[in-house]
Amino acid sequence: MAYRKEAEQRISISHDRYQRMFNSSFLGITVTDINGQILNANDKWAEMTLYDHDELLNMKIFDILSPESKAAGKVEFKKLRDKDVQDIVLERKYTRKDGSIFWGQLYMTSIRDPETKASNFLGMVHDITEKRLQREAAERAEAMMIHQARQAAMGEMLGNIAHQWRQPLNNLGLIIANIEDAYKYDDLDDQGLFDASHRAKSLIRQMSETIDDFQDFLSPNMDTESFNLEDMLDNVVEMIQDNLNINKITLVRTGRVSGIVEGQKNQLAQAIFNLINNAVDATVSSETEKREIIIRTQMREKQLGEGPIYTASIQVEDHAGGVPENLLHNIFDPYFTTKPKNKGTGLGLYITKSIVENTFNGSVSLTQTPMGPYLKLKFL
Ligand SMILES: Nc1ncnc2c1ncn2[C@@H]1O[C@H](COP(=O)(O)OP(=O)(O)OP(=O)(O)O)[C@@H](O)[C@H]1O
Ligand SMILES: [Mg+2]
Repeated sequence: MAYRKEAEQRISISHDRYQRMFNSSFLGITVTDINGQILNANDKWAEMTLYDHDELLNMKIFDILSPESKAAGKVEFKKLRDKDVQDIVLERKYTRKDGSIFWGQLYMTSIRDPETKASNFLGMVHDITEKRLQREAAERAEAMMIHQARQAAMGEMLGNIAHQWRQPLNNLGLIIANIEDAYKYDDLDDQGLFDASHRAKSLIRQMSETIDDFQDFLSPNMDTESFNLEDMLDNVVEMIQDNLNINKITLVRTGRVSGIVEGQKNQLAQAIFNLINNAVDATVSSETEKREIIIRTQMREKQLGEGPIYTASIQVEDHAGGVPENLLHNIFDPYFTTKPKNKGTGLGLYITKSIVENTFNGSVSLTQTPMGPYLKLKFL
């Protein structure tokens, strides 16, 4: 008899211990049957959902899921019930009794009840609302920055188109004026008209190609493609050529490589475009003697286990003195600019860095030389 009493006591102590653990957990814990009916819930879960224990025991676990999580929640639950999966690890949105919401990281697994031998589900939820909201805010800010950078790039593009069109537009005007004159003075023969119209058509074709080039460059094409590094650079330089001419800057290309790179071409073009633009801005404002920008490309073959891999680098160099020492650790920050308000958004280098790191798995570095800085993109 005494023996039995002792055993009962031991069980009771162990039950208490279990109950205390269950309730003092910082996770919300529930046990449900295979239909989602709540059989047990700990204090934390009651605190998280604002329902008291009695209310919870009359509810199904889905009742606490917020409407947009409900359908998906049931699907996952069914997978567990049908033993398609061993456990569920998911982020879920829940609605509290007062209608407010919280985000939870849910771990759910099936357990066997030692008494009834029935299969039950044990769910543990960690409140991640704060983390989730921070992440959403960061994602929104990132999308906003990309949008602004795009707008800025469009503005620059428009400026470039204006540059590139000015000359052919002038020429078209002259051709038309010449035709009028010739007509007025009865000096317009077939050949003259034919030549003039031929020249005009070719100018119009040139202007139309400019638009195509820019449109191509700005298209949000996210497809991965194989492209020739130098051809891509040729395109970028072509687009910026008028800007270089107007500012009397020479662009030198060295180390030309015939490397093929895999990735999002337009993105990389934009990354380089930002570097060249910075070099142009620096050269123009520094009034350096050496109005020269150098683009240096390199491609190295590395023997790595299964076969060769290639690392490419593109370096944009100017002779305008570089970045002041005290600003060096800021230049890649979003919105950091030393330019007047309508000249710079401060997103150029930030975007370049994020493109190279995120889409090309590469790195960006700045090195100062006595002549000026060079910014180097390295990627696989
Ligand atoms: N080649 C360079 N020489 C000197 N300073 C540079 C050079 N490239 C960047 N910087 C400095 O880094 C800052 C940030 O460059 P970033 O390209 O991010 O923005 P921005 O050029 O000011 O504006 P945006 O590119 O949006 O038009 C610049 O304002 C400038 O002070
Ligand atoms: Mg810039």
